Parts: sequence; C-alpha cells; structure tokens
Amino acid sequence: AGPCDIYSSGGTPCVAAHSTTRALYSAYTGPLYQVKRGSDGATTTISPLSSGVANAAAQDSFCAGTTCLITIIYDQSGRGNHLTQAPPGGFNGPESNGYDNLASAIGAPVTLNGQKAYGVFISPGTGYRNNAASGTAKGDAAEGMYAVLDGTHYNGACCFDYGNAETSSRDTGNGHMEAIYYGDSTVWGTGSGNGPWIMADLENGLFSGSAVHNNAGDPSISYRFVTAAVKGQPNQWAIRGGNSASGSLSTFYNGARPSASGYNPMSKEGAIILGIGGDNSNGAQGTFYEGVMTSGYPSDATENSVQANIVAAKYAVTSLTSGPALTTGSSVSLRATTSCCTTRYITHTGSTVNTQVVSSSSATALKQQASWTVRAGLGNSGCFSFESKDTPGSYIRHNNFVLLLNANDGSKQFAEDATFCPQAGLNGQGNSLRAWGYPTRYFRHYDNVLYVASNGGVHTFDATGSFNDDVSFVISASFA
Ligand code: AHR
Ligand code: AHR
Repeated sequence: AGPCDIYSSGGTPCVAAHSTTRALYSAYTGPLYQVKRGSDGATTTISPLSSGVANAAAQDSFCAGTTCLITIIYDQSGRGNHLTQAPPGGFNGPESNGYDNLASAIGAPVTLNGQKAYGVFISPGTGYRNNAASGTAKGDAAEGMYAVLDGTHYNGACCFDYGNAETSSRDTGNGHMEAIYYGDSTVWGTGSGNGPWIMADLENGLFSGSAVHNNAGDPSISYRFVTAAVKGQPNQWAIRGGNSASGSLSTFYNGARPSASGYNPMSKEGAIILGIGGDNSNGAQGTFYEGVMTSGYPSDATENSVQANIVAAKYAVTSLTSGPALTTGSSVSLRATTSCCTTRYITHTGSTVNTQVVSSSSATALKQQASWTVRAGLGNSGCFSFESKDTPGSYIRHNNFVLLLNANDGSKQFAEDATFCPQAGLNGQGNSLRAWGYPTRYFRHYDNVLYVASNGGVHTFDATGSFNDDVSFVISASFA
C-alpha cells in the first residue's frame, strides 16, 4: 500500500498527493512530475518504475548535457491538483512577470530502497502553487497533511510551507491558511531550542501550539529526513513529527485553536502552496520529497501507519557530485573552456572573482591568485568550498549571484553561499560547479567576471548563449 491507500482505509482520503520520488498509491502508474530542459525547451514526464520509485534514469538521460527544471508536480489523487510555477501575489517572485523560480531537477538526489530519485530543492525565490484546487478543505472543514522534508535544509525567512492557502496569492487575513511550515523563523512562533521547527502556517502567524509565540512542547527537529504532519478540524488541531528513516511520529501539539482572533473558526480557502507563504512570500528554502492533503481529520493511528510506510520506503542520502573527482586538501586551478578563453583561469583581484590569462611563466602573485585549496563544503560536506591560496580563510562565495572572495564569517549563510557541487562539465569537459543552495546556478564566466548563473533568467549573466561552455572548467593541479 501507499500513504494514500492508508488514508483511504482510515476514511480520510487524499485530495492532493505530490511526490517527485515515488507513487503514493500502490496502483498509481501515472506521471509524477514534468521536467523541462534548457537545451531546446522540450519537456518530458517522469513516472514510477514497477517498484513505485520515480524513474530517475529517464530524467538523467533526458537532461544529459544540459539543465532541467521541474515544471509540474502532478497530483496523484485523480483530482488534477497539480502544482506549477507560483504566480505573483502579495509579493513578486524573481522571474519575469513576478513569477517564482522553478526548482532544478537535480538539486535533491536521494535513494529510496536503493533506487535513485530526486526531491524538489526550493531555493529562496522558488515556489509552486495551485490556486484552483478541488476537494481541499474550505472554511472550517477538517483536513490533514504530511510532508517528507530535508531537516538540514531550511532558513528563517518566510515561509517554507506545504498545504492550504489563499486562492488569491494574497494575505486575506488570519485563519485563511493551514499549511505545514518547516524552518527556524522566529518572527511569529518558536518551539524549544534554536530550531528548525515544524509549525503550522495559519496566516499572519506560524504556530507551534496554543500560545501565540513560544510553545516549549514543539521541539527543534533536524533529522536528515523529517516527517512533518499538521491537521485541523473545528477548534482542534495538531502538529506531529518524526524521523522519516526510522521510528514513529510524536505529537508536538494537540488541542484548541489559537485564541488570537480569526483562527476559530478557520477560513481556509483551499489553494495549495509549496515552498512559499500564502501571500507568495518567497525568501525561504527547504527540500520536499513527498506530501499529501486529505479530506477529513486523519486519526493518529492512520498517520502512524503512514509513517511506517515512509520508513519502509527507505529514504537515504546519495552523492551530490559527478564528473572528475576533487580531493579535499589538494590545490587546484580552474581553466575556462569557452573557445574565447581557453588560456584563462579563475583568479581573484581583491574580492572580485574573475578570469585572467595564466601560464607557467606568469608572475608568482598571479599564479597564487589562480590557485585554490579544495575544502569540504562549508555548508554541506558532500560538496566543496574553494579557499584562496594567497588569502587563507577567504573562500569563493556568491552574493546576489556574483562570485566574491570573502573571509569566512562563520555564519550559516556564508557556509551555504560558499558551497559548490561539481558535476560532469555540461559541455563534456571538466566540471560544472553547481551552487549547493541554488542548484539551477553554476560558476559562469561572463565578460571575464564570475557569477552563479542559471541557463536563462532575468540577469544579463543568465544568457543562454554559450551557457554550457561558460559553465565548464577543467580542474587541474594548481599553478602555485
Ligand atoms: O503566516 C505567515 C505568513 O504571513 C504567511 O505565509 C504569509 O501569507 C504572511 O506574510
Ligand atoms: O547569491 C544569492 C544570495 O544573495 C546569497 O545566498 C545571499 O548571501 C545574498 O542575499
């Protein structure tokens, strides 16, 4: 059985079922998600294999030698509640016309029972939505929901959510949302410890329990795979959570609606959001693997069976890198491969990261500027960071999508901005260096300056022309 078979048996059927990793009904054989590739704009759908796990190999072959975005996350419930690129609302997204970004198709690789699949890696600016969903709870009607998330990928911005939100993409008042929130925002609610927490986004408030601000019963939770569950019915709601890879769910709150005005009764509108707030606030980050929304208030016993099903799916980590291997502690130089520039290497001039022509006969200072020590990724040890040879303690990081050489300030933001995941070079040479936190973006030289660029986008440096060449670098032993 799948999670939605279990909810059906419990009398609270799924009305939306989203996953890029697996079928959520044992009998589901339709598409899980659609990807669009950068080379020619073509799309394809990815369906489950007979095991129920997504056919990631089909994606890998369709996307070979180019970039791919997740364009549609299909609803498996049969109600057509698919998730697509979120439109502008109270806040604009970063794409043209105020739309949010789409997720890279390769930002969140995992295995399920040993078979590779990809989750949805939500960077700040990324969001999916369906403002015309059918069958989801409205008003004070009962519903439940769960999601499997990456407990190491979060931030404090508003709002990495999955669940029920406004059909207008605007803040229409307290009680107009009921969604799972995951992250360490302290603007509204908090639990015990420093976070991240599972909370409920009920609009104009992330709630960790009955009190409007802190509820010590809601623990910090950061398993690599987190099961997060929220459910609500007239004057009752609950938060539950656990480790998606083992064990059972715990109840972090179960009780009355918040006493602040507007939350009892609720005024749910029935749209579905992923990765954003109800008003299209889009500063948050997180990773989504699977999730559902139900009709009716699922029993704890039903949710416990769903958790057992998730554990049995055996989510596990897998490599974030491919292509020629990098060795931590080694010193490297990185050569451009675009035909203009094959004698140019990634260098720095002060804090500017650029390319310059470097050779064995260059001055020592320039050779050092072109030399980098490979470190385990400051933000994720499955990837890498590049420390300057002549300025120890300073690393290549992106800021506003421009690469800079900056001293490590020890912050989580710096660590994430300085973490890059090498993959086989998109033009077939060397490596392309994907930004861990923005996996649609790669090291790119553009007018001899380095950026993290996407293959098409609003910045000049996102131009599609010569993208594959500009993002491919041959990495060799360093000059200095
Ligand atoms: O409730 C928290 C956030 O507040 C909602 O997600 C958003 O709509 C509003 O800004
Ligand atoms: O480079 C993109 C983002 O810009 C970085 O993550 C952040 O440091 C800055 O806001």
